[in-house]
Amino acid sequence: MKIGWIGLGNMGIPMAGNLLAAGYEVKVWNRTPNKAEPLLARGAALAGSLAELAAECDIVFTMVSDDEAVKAVYTGPEGLLASGARGTLAVDMSTVSPETSRFVAEQCRQAGFRFLDAPVSGSVGPAKEGKLVIMVGGDESDFAQVKPLLDKLGKLALHLGPNGAGTSAKLAINLLLGITVQGAAETLLFARSMGIPTEQMLTIIAESAVGTPLIRGKEASILADDYPAAFALKHMAKDLRLAREEGVSTPLAESVAACYRAALEDGLGDLDVMAILRFLDRK
Ligand SMILES: NC(=O)c1ccc[n+]([C@@H]2O[C@H](COP(=O)([O-])OP(=O)(O)OC[C@H]3O[C@@H](n4cnc5c(N)ncnc54)[C@H](OP(=O)(O)O)[C@@H]3O)[C@@H](O)[C@H]2O)c1
Repeated sequence: MKIGWIGLGNMGIPMAGNLLAAGYEVKVWNRTPNKAEPLLARGAALAGSLAELAAECDIVFTMVSDDEAVKAVYTGPEGLLASGARGTLAVDMSTVSPETSRFVAEQCRQAGFRFLDAPVSGSVGPAKEGKLVIMVGGDESDFAQVKPLLDKLGKLALHLGPNGAGTSAKLAINLLLGITVQGAAETLLFARSMGIPTEQMLTIIAESAVGTPLIRGKEASILADDYPAAFALKHMAKDLRLAREEGVSTPLAESVAACYRAALEDGLGDLDVMAILRFLDRK
């Protein structure tokens, strides 16, 4: 079986790397081709075009930024679906709106492709370790076909219903992510305002019932006030916007969406989501 992988950003590189490590033949494509170099050094092949990838591969994964990127990759003039390939199973792991998942699924059906939406929870660490949580929408038989591969990428792959169900679940879990990260940031700033050092407050959080591996994983960044993106703040702002477009309007959802949007407008979008702490600290 030949695998295609499209999108070699923070997540795509380690995820495609896990399929290579599991012994699969992987051909990759990225809009900026030189980002493929670490995978080529590990035995991946580079596709010259999306058409080439679609023609040669049985299963093609996509892991790109947002709705616009997914639509460009699938339905753009030089996109996957313009290739004329038939029967390919496309698996989109990007976080996009359920509407986009359903739209792309329909376009795939019309072009003779099969399609699953299969976004993931877990950042670069779990991606490297093959411990993502994968939420899947689409036909159950397509899910069964790709499950052995998903098991190389994640610790859990769950089929949730028709196309759009995976992306719906993803927007829900990322609401909790946005609230958790901002909650930790506000807690640290409140503690600091009362003279409690951040390092000690981080220890208290980690050892308490509300400590999470998520915040533990951000400790070094917080202490150094240095936020290289594992999960970029711009993607968090996007996911909360998508959740609001799906109709969430609860108090915390409204509030965190506005806060991440303001941080994005303040120029922090390419930093890690935890840079919301720096944004709140400036206010
Ligand atoms: N990072 C995380 O912790 C995390 C966790 C769970 C889910 N996600 C989701 O997973 C997706 C990917 O995240 P990431 O962190 O890997 O993003 P990233 O590092 O920003 O990489 C984005 C990828 O999308 C490609 N891309 C963007 N616009 C494109 C377009 N118009 N046409 C073709 N390719 C395009 C980029 O290509 P170039 O290299 O050419 O720019 C790059 O390969 C996002 O939907 C994100 O919300 C991320």
